[in-house]
Amino acid sequence: MNIQQISSTPFTDQKPGTSGLRKKVDVFKQAHYLENFVQCIFNSLGDSDKDILIIGGDGRFYNRQAIQVILKMAVASGFRKILVGQSGLVSTPAMSAQIRKYKATGGIILSASHNPGGPDGDFGIKFNTQNGGPAPEKLTDQIYQNTLTIDQYQIIEAADIDLDQLGTTPMGNAEVEVIDTVADYADFMQHLFDFERIKTLFRTGAFQMSFDAMHAITGPYAKELFERRLGAMVGTVMNAEPLEDFGGGHPDPNMVHAHELVEQMFGPKAPDFGAASDGDGDRNMILGRHCYVTPSDSLAVMAANLHHIPGYRNGLSGVARSMPTSQAVDRVAEVMGVHCYETPTGWKFFGNLLDSKKINLCGEESFGSGSDHIREKDGLWAVLFWLDLIAVKQQSVAEIMQDHWRRFGRHYYSRHDYEEVDKTRAEELMSTLKARQSELAGQAINGYKITACDDFSYTDPVDNSCSENQGLRFLFEDGSRIVYRLSGTGTVGATLRVYLERYEPNSEQHQLDTQQTLALLIKIAEQLARIKEFTGREQPSVIT
Ligand code: G1P
Ligand code: ZN
Repeated sequence: MNIQQISSTPFTDQKPGTSGLRKKVDVFKQAHYLENFVQCIFNSLGDSDKDILIIGGDGRFYNRQAIQVILKMAVASGFRKILVGQSGLVSTPAMSAQIRKYKATGGIILSASHNPGGPDGDFGIKFNTQNGGPAPEKLTDQIYQNTLTIDQYQIIEAADIDLDQLGTTPMGNAEVEVIDTVADYADFMQHLFDFERIKTLFRTGAFQMSFDAMHAITGPYAKELFERRLGAMVGTVMNAEPLEDFGGGHPDPNMVHAHELVEQMFGPKAPDFGAASDGDGDRNMILGRHCYVTPSDSLAVMAANLHHIPGYRNGLSGVARSMPTSQAVDRVAEVMGVHCYETPTGWKFFGNLLDSKKINLCGEESFGSGSDHIREKDGLWAVLFWLDLIAVKQQSVAEIMQDHWRRFGRHYYSRHDYEEVDKTRAEELMSTLKARQSELAGQAINGYKITACDDFSYTDPVDNSCSENQGLRFLFEDGSRIVYRLSGTGTVGATLRVYLERYEPNSEQHQLDTQQTLALLIKIAEQLARIKEFTGREQPSVIT
């Protein structure tokens, strides 16, 4: 095999963020940029570990080109076998499942998740380890250190692989196999949920569903699951064809970006159930007829009902949520007598808790939920969970929510994002606010007393690793919270996220409008952080 050693010099901006390395396509297209980062991933692995590698992405622009490069580098670096998704496509949850199934060394996912794609959009690369989950911070730190000193990478000279053709081809000393992950993933789901029960929902045609794949990765998986295996009407899955630019849209399943679905679900002939997923298939949004379920509430409902799902007959063993996620699931955990862990933002922090069986369910406010079945969040899994639950309860989504709130109280919750603001000013906002925290503790703002505030830090109970500066928290006397963080996934300027939460135990107050209910907290959030002054923005760019 003809291995070429290519000289290179470091790039200083290859520090992985909340979820891998994300940059504009143009940045990735610079000579050696992708290669450097990939080599640094390989260099962080021991030679004897290089056995099976899986490669795939969400199909965005530059996916195919990047895969051809990574294949040749993986062969040069000594992998024995490389599996690659057909047409270069593998959803993030399917990747996690495949790594676990094949006991692979790891997987490389090419995605910038919910960020827009196309030549002017974003690209990204993420390494998942042999448990199927995102590389832990220890490893991403090491990869980053490698990127600062790299002086060469290895690649073999070989013809490109036909990514559309299933089958095995030799490449150098390795074998490359193009695989279809859709059937495998669907089989896996069939094993976790009661498909016969769900089928009865669709059988008479009375129950209608709409799933928006947003021209991203879940289209083929969703068609197989909902339309072929579960008997939902053809056309249930909309925007099903994965496109390199996601049809010009922003593949983020929320009320703003999944507007086509939202219009249907709140329109006159709304289906019973609606859902959407993101670019790489790990996020989900759940809607009922004229009803939206916040991701935090969705997690709480799942926790309260896990025992109804065949794959989880023994019920909830423990649960975790990211710190900014609402405390709705904490209430459920309390009632069920299990522990609720509070972790920093990002799925990688759930890995150890899942591996050590401390939890079997976890989620984030950012439209992510998942379980111990894999080590990533899983959009379609969450949709199937809700379908199975609707079939068990024979209730509408709105009724399920009302019952839940009656039992546990309601956590009004919203996130306000200020996107693409000036980075320096955003950092100043955070540092100014942090510096004032000790003076603010105990004070009343607008008659609302701050009982505690801090900069969240987390010590992993399994490996004792410590993660600091994970978000500024303000806790109020009635249990309300305001949290401020800067995003770790954006590619332009900075994004300030403000998370607002208010608990309402009284069920007579459970039908109120969320933004109105949070109005006072929203005002306080502005007063505390002087958002307008630092960001120059009158309003958030996205409210979820
Ligand atoms: C965002 C979400 C976070 C999620 C991540 C990857 O990260 O807030 O919960 O894990 O995307 O999907 P952020 O941009 O806030 O750092
Ligand atoms: Zn995603």
